[in-house]
Amino acid sequence: MHAVEVDTVAFAFQDRDRTVPVIKNVSFIADEFEFVSVIGPSGCGKSTLLRIIAGLIPPTRGKILIYDKEVAKPTELVSFVFQDSALLPWLTNIENVKLSLSSSPMSEDEKNRKAKAILDRLELKGFENAYPNVLSGGMKQRVGVARAMVSDPKVLLMDEPFSSLDELTARSLRSEILSTLKDKNLPIMSVLMVSHNVEEVVELSDKVVILSDKPSYIKAIKTIDLPVPRDRHSKEFINVVDSIYSVLTG
Ligand SMILES: Nc1ncnc2c1ncn2[C@@H]1O[C@H](COP(=O)(O)OP(=O)(O)OP(=O)(O)O)[C@@H](O)[C@H]1O
Ligand SMILES: [Mg+2]
Repeated sequence: MHAVEVDTVAFAFQDRDRTVPVIKNVSFIADEFEFVSVIGPSGCGKSTLLRIIAGLIPPTRGKILIYDKEVAKPTELVSFVFQDSALLPWLTNIENVKLSLSSSPMSEDEKNRKAKAILDRLELKGFENAYPNVLSGGMKQRVGVARAMVSDPKVLLMDEPFSSLDELTARSLRSEILSTLKDKNLPIMSVLMVSHNVEEVVELSDKVVILSDKPSYIKAIKTIDLPVPRDRHSKEFINVVDSIYSVLTG
């Protein structure tokens, strides 16, 4: 059983009397504990594809399976991390995190304990009762990740989660997400990330799905089996980066 199966998905926007094809044909699989990235030119439909996988919009053709079940609407198995953390400014950080648990049968105590634990894990101890406006961009993004992880999703979808962060902040958040994914004591998770950043993708991914220009199809799927943690300066790393660039531009 696969965690996520994208099966011959196509998508077109209906723009008044015009049909605008965005995704022509995309199929790939993400397995448990796998980190899969989707990379492709701006406007090729990456964010649209993530929204389809999340069940937020229906595909025009094809289907999405999450653990063998066809997705028709958002499910609690899947969480979303947005490019900008999308926190609600009138709620404290812990309240923002607990939003993901609002339909959970957990007691309020249990929700607090769980939200606090994940905020601690993401190095936000002491900021539980502060409001998002006192946080730096990187800290806000951590709260966004905490909110996505607190419900123990089986699948974490991330749309360019690090692109608004400075490189140092991005680096520490990347390694936090990677260690959470690979930690066998935590609930099973797989990650599907959309990114523009080839180096970032090679650092994190087990598999990379490379999309063409819109209307997008798959140009290549590359498995990356370099040992982790990956050294961005190694010859092997640079070779993989170069090979992805050449598919993207070729
Ligand atoms: N409501 C809409 N109606 C028609 N076309 C749309 C609509 N929303 C988005 N599009 C088009 O669909 C295409 C795909 O958009 P999407 O945001 O998925 O691309 P993307 O690959 O995530 O781009 P980026 O890398 O810039 O984030 C774009 O070319 C966009 O212009
Ligand atoms: Mg996008």
